[in-house]
Amino acid sequence: MKTVMVTGGAGFIGSNFIHYLLRVEPDVQVINLDALTYAGSLENLVDVSSNPRYTFVQGDICDAVFVDDLLRQYQVDTVVHFAAESHVDRSILGPRQFVETNVMGTFTLLDAVRKYWIQEKGLPLDDVRFHHVSTDEVFGSLSAGEAAWTEESSYAPNSPYAASKASSDHLVRSYGHTFGLPYTLTNCSNNYGPFQFPEKLIPLIILNAIEGKPLPVYGDGQQIRDWLHVEDHCEAIHLVLKKGKTGSTYNIGGENQPANLTIVETICDILDEVLTDAQNKPHKNLINFVTDRPGHDRRYDMDIHKINTELGWKPRRTLAQGLLDTVNWYLSHPDWVAVIRQKQEYKGWMDANYKSR
Ligand code: NAD
Ligand code: DAU
Repeated sequence: MKTVMVTGGAGFIGSNFIHYLLRVEPDVQVINLDALTYAGSLENLVDVSSNPRYTFVQGDICDAVFVDDLLRQYQVDTVVHFAAESHVDRSILGPRQFVETNVMGTFTLLDAVRKYWIQEKGLPLDDVRFHHVSTDEVFGSLSAGEAAWTEESSYAPNSPYAASKASSDHLVRSYGHTFGLPYTLTNCSNNYGPFQFPEKLIPLIILNAIEGKPLPVYGDGQQIRDWLHVEDHCEAIHLVLKKGKTGSTYNIGGENQPANLTIVETICDILDEVLTDAQNKPHKNLINFVTDRPGHDRRYDMDIHKINTELGWKPRRTLAQGLLDTVNWYLSHPDWVAVIRQKQEYKGWMDANYKSR
């Protein structure tokens, strides 16, 4: 691993991963390829922007000629592919972009590395790796008492987002099987932590609560997600890159499965505690049950036995500590919050998704 191209490195997990990689791999060069959609922001990377081992390139993963050139220009030996449309609610209001980015974008990258690494033998095959970052949502939804998903569980994606990610997973696997592409693939549960765009549950609730705005809880709030701090996810991906078996997939999860309402109430309790002079106490009074998400998955739960026994990974952070740290991060980064929330795409989205709920 000498030159790592991180796609979607200006997004939430990608930017955390770039910080992580530059910290733990002192000799690696990082190329961040990002289109800077509404979800990407160079504000997430201010403190690495002048690092000589870091290069930002603005571009679209669907642009085949551009991606072909970039791989050769930097002699990329490792691709860590985060770039995607990632918000389930947006995939319900506008699915087309999800198919274009998540399916065609992944296909374009796969075909570019196939040509450069395999067809033209641009680099020794033993030295290259395509790592695909995917989601637990490809497995669908669990009912109460059903066993957690393993790497052998069947795919049953329910939302257009999940279906587009499932398609991309299948394409990755097919390039391994048919062309011998050295790949690894991880399916991870819900992340939270610094730099998460405030359309997702945890940052949305933190920021609305601070401002005394309603806290929208879909349906009965009893849906269950498997929460993982983003730093733990970054550590897992790095470990898979270093020690994971080529052609393998690994499930990653947080071993935390509270109901959404419990997450929202916990954030309210933390804010009651840390904001001693807040006007809106108790923050729980701001909770507002709203119309449910269409097709809303009920429960996610990842079995992390394989990555634990093969690679020795398990999450380091408890949810209680991770949530406290995350609330404190948003409170101590008002400038970052202000830049993100000024974006027209953010204001437009809040109106589109919540006004008529
Ligand atoms: P995000 O929405 O915060 O960031 C996505 C990034 O991709 C943005 O910087 C955006 O500008 C970039 N991008 C979008 N389209 C692009 C294109 N055509 N070309 C180049 N760049 C483009 O997403 P995230 O939450 O950081 O998720 C990253 C990856 O991890 C996604 O593939 C997602 O499916 C997966 N994932 C996310 C979670 C989670 O909880 N957030 C959990 C499991 C897996
Ligand atoms: O499971 C992994 C997935 O987690 C990733 O693949 C996705 O990229 C990521 O966005 C996330 O998807 P979710 O739909 O689970 O995350 P979100 O933060 O949007 O919602 C979490 C839960 O909270 C979900 O059950 C819906 C609910 N919710 C969400 C919002 C935005 C609410 O109740 N109110 C809200 O306003």
